[in-house]
Amino acid sequence: MTKRTKQKKSSIHAAITGVHGYVPPDVLTNAELARMVDTSDEWILERTGIKERHILKGKGLGTSHMGAEAVRGLLKKTGTAPAEIDLLICATTTPDFVFPSTANLICDMADIRNIGSFDVQAACSGFVYALTIASQFIELGTYRKIVVVGADKMSAIIDYTDRATCVLFGDGAGAVLVEPNRKYGIIDTMISSDGAGMKHLHQKAGGSRMPPTAESVAKRLHYVHQEGAAVYKFAIARMAEVATELMRRNRLTKDTVDWLVPHQANMRIIEATAERMKIPPERVMVTIHKYGNTTAGTIPLCLWDYEAKLKAGDRLILAAFGGGFTWGGIYMTWAYDARSPRSEDRAGEGARSKGGGRGLAGRLAYMLKAPFALLVPFPASSLRRGG
Ligand code: ACO
Repeated sequence: MTKRTKQKKSSIHAAITGVHGYVPPDVLTNAELARMVDTSDEWILERTGIKERHILKGKGLGTSHMGAEAVRGLLKKTGTAPAEIDLLICATTTPDFVFPSTANLICDMADIRNIGSFDVQAACSGFVYALTIASQFIELGTYRKIVVVGADKMSAIIDYTDRATCVLFGDGAGAVLVEPNRKYGIIDTMISSDGAGMKHLHQKAGGSRMPPTAESVAKRLHYVHQEGAAVYKFAIARMAEVATELMRRNRLTKDTVDWLVPHQANMRIIEATAERMKIPPERVMVTIHKYGNTTAGTIPLCLWDYEAKLKAGDRLILAAFGGGFTWGGIYMTWAYDARSPRSEDRAGEGARSKGGGRGLAGRLAYMLKAPFALLVPFPASSLRRGG
C-alpha cells in the first residue's frame, strides 16, 4: 500500500511550461524481433500493444545523447537560454556511467553551466519521482526554472536472446521545463516503493554487489531479469491504487479528469488502470505501440506526443510503476495551450487568466481525435518524428 502523505499547502504551483522529446531514428519492428527470437508480431501486439520501438545505435552514444537532444529542443522551443536554468534532474536507470551522473553530462552537452544537476533512479517511476522533487524546489521558491529529464537506453541492458524481455523495451528521452505558476501546475504527488520487489525485476551484475567480471558477462547477468507475470500483477494493483487515491483525495471524478498519462509498460496494464478510474480510452495517452517501454522516458514522451491536444486548465493524472518496486502519481493542471506555450499565467507576473476550460464542441473534437492507438493507429509520419 502507498503510505498516506500530506497534500501540498503552497499557493505557488510547479507547472510544466514546455515539453520536448527525442527518439533515435533506428526502428526495431516486431517482425525483426521475430527473426531474432521465438516470437511473433501477433503475440507481441496482443500481449503488450507494442508494434515497434526505437533503438539508439552509434558508437559512444549513451542515454545522455538522447537526454541532451530533448533538452536542446526544449530550450529552443520555449525560448529559454541555457544560463536561465537553475537545476537539472535526470531520471534514468541506464546512466552513461556509474559516475559522473547523466544529468552532469546532459548539462555539459546542452551548454548549461554551474548549476546543480543529479540523477534519480526509480526505474519506470523515475520521471514521476524526479518531477515530484522538482516541484518541491519550485514551491519553496528555491528555483524558478528546472529541467526534468526522463531518459533511458534500455537496449544497453536488454538480452536480445530473451524473448520475455527483449520485445518490451525501447530507447527514448523526454524533457520538461518546470516553473512557478499561481494558477496551474502540480497539485498533488504520491511516491512509494517496496524493495521486496527486487526479486521479480532487477539487473544482477554491474553494481557494487556484483561488479562486472568475465564470468558475470558470460552468464549474461548484466541484463534485465523480469518475472513478467508477477510484475504485471503488482503493476496493475499499484498504478490503479495511486491513480484512484489521487482522484479520491482531490475530489476528482471520471468526468473531471481530462487525461490519464500512464507509464507505458503494457497496453493491458494501461487499460486496466483506466478501467479502475473509469476513464474512457480517448482520454488516455498511449504511445506504447510506437516506442515500447522507454522506462523513465515514457511519461514525458506521452506529454510531448499529445502536447498539441492539451489546453490550459486540463486536469492530468500521471501514474507509474517500475523496478524496485517503485510507483507514484501526480495530479496537475496543464499550464498552456500548445500554440502559445509562453503566454501562460506565471507567478510574479500578475494573475492573467488564460483559457481555463473548453467548450463542448472542442472537447468532442479532441476526444474523437485521440482514440486508443490499437484501434486507430497513428499515421506513419508520426512514427519517426524525433529522429
Ligand atoms: N513471444 C512468445 N511467447 C512468449 C514471449 C514472446 N515474446 N514472451 C513470453 N512468452 C511465453 C512464455 O514463455 C509463456 O509460455 P509458457 O506458457 O509456455 O510458459 C507464455 O508466453 C506466457 O508468459 P507470461 O509471462 O505469463 O505472459 P504474460 O501474459 O504475463 O505477458 C509480459 C508477459 C508482457 C512481460 C507481461 O507479464 C508484462 O507486461 N509484465 C509487466 C511488465 C512491467 O510492467 N514492468 C515494469 C516496468 S519495467 C522497469 O521498471 C524496468
